[in-house]
Amino acid sequence: MVDESGIMAFGRYAHIVGWGKAVPNRVVTNHELEQIVDTSDEWIRSRTGIQQRRIAVDPAETTATLAAKAAREALEVADIPASKVDMIIVATSSPEHTFPATACAVQDMIGAVNAGAFDLSAACSGFVYGLGVAKGLIASGQAENVLVIGAETLSRITDWSDRNTCVLFGDGAGAVLVQSSPVPGGILATEMGCDGSGGDLLILPAGGSKMPATLETVASGQHFIKMNGRAVYRFATRIMAEATRRVLSKANLTVDDIDLVIPHQANERIIAVSMRNLKLPEEKVFRNLQYYGNTSTASIPIALYEALEQDRIKPNDTIVMVGFGAGLTWAGTAIKWGVPTEKETSLWRASQRSASYGLAKARSQWLRLSHLLGSNLVTEDGESLAQALSNRLEDWRKQLESDEEEEEQRHDPKQEKPSLPNGASSSDES
Ligand code: UT7
Repeated sequence: MVDESGIMAFGRYAHIVGWGKAVPNRVVTNHELEQIVDTSDEWIRSRTGIQQRRIAVDPAETTATLAAKAAREALEVADIPASKVDMIIVATSSPEHTFPATACAVQDMIGAVNAGAFDLSAACSGFVYGLGVAKGLIASGQAENVLVIGAETLSRITDWSDRNTCVLFGDGAGAVLVQSSPVPGGILATEMGCDGSGGDLLILPAGGSKMPATLETVASGQHFIKMNGRAVYRFATRIMAEATRRVLSKANLTVDDIDLVIPHQANERIIAVSMRNLKLPEEKVFRNLQYYGNTSTASIPIALYEALEQDRIKPNDTIVMVGFGAGLTWAGTAIKWGVPTEKETSLWRASQRSASYGLAKARSQWLRLSHLLGSNLVTEDGESLAQALSNRLEDWRKQLESDEEEEEQRHDPKQEKPSLPNGASSSDES
């Protein structure tokens, strides 16, 4: 079977079936920034459209904790346990470490015991790149459930004395669960591009292998974001419309087919110019950058979440998500929305899940202990004590899951015949 993008899909379509969002509580207004750099609310609003942003002021709140929170909500909406996730992709430019990947921390936090995990570095385009990878994994039969997360704590790599950058960025995370389904639709096509010659235009110069950390790199602020704003602006206004046209053409669609565009929320002027180039009416463009600033790769999934929350997306709508970023990179995807947008989880199931996350946390702690103790403490069977305890915790978690499945069978007679994700039935196929 060949899908709209001409790719052999063998009846395996990739649908977004769950979505989640996490932002720090602390709101920082433009007026507060007036106190720390030479700027004004008027300048920031008129040049960017941003009114406020969320900043992770608590050191315990990190890229991974925000990502895990968004991921748990996405799983809740998709109504599947973490153990069914095959791959976790965390797109980020503010990973917790160069290695291990932030995605590995997320795997541990949510107890996705059967998942692979890796970080994806494509700056603000990263989330849409992640959707392209998820579609590939699903279409090729390598995965059934892929968590794609965009997560950032850019405030930790922002120079708060540089007015050119510090007024722009914010922290947050958005996650989606992409699931395999025989129902046509879902992610129809993706466009992923790059122009590496523009690498210096938006860069975190130091801390990598080219410029390792030294006293000098720290003293000269080389561990903070550096940007040539005007050059990035010129690139962005050209590429957003171009990437949208390219992905539409891959999906055999036109601009008129679009029901909603969710652009990267970097700058109101960039969005306005790009969408004017496409001749797209205002009501077909989603914006929320006034509340969050530019959260880089988290901006599109956070906007998607809020578009769903505001009923801006309905089943069968054609959605385009399009972004640009450091690299220079760009990415677009065209999606035929395939699942109901209103989801309810019973209190009982929510508490089952919450217990399961508690067990995942306990299991993680025992495993950490096990790594430290090595084989020093062993059971009579020669098994490491910590490993044995974590295995028991894993058994309990599995028991919780099978109880959950049994309960589902008891309460839902529809479950007796084979069904598609989220209750869609094969008769829905068009
Ligand atoms: O996710 C991708 C991330 N990057 C982007 O999306 C950035 C894309 N670029 C932009 O969004 C815009 O270029 C900016 C918002 C960064 C800047 O807007 P602009 O209209 O391109 O301003 P500009 O850089 O041309 O600067 C105009 C003036 C300059 O002063 P002079 O040289 O004309 O006297 C700047 O020094 O505005 C000054 N300026 C500021 N003034 C008050 C720059 N930043 C500020 C500020 N407050 N925060």
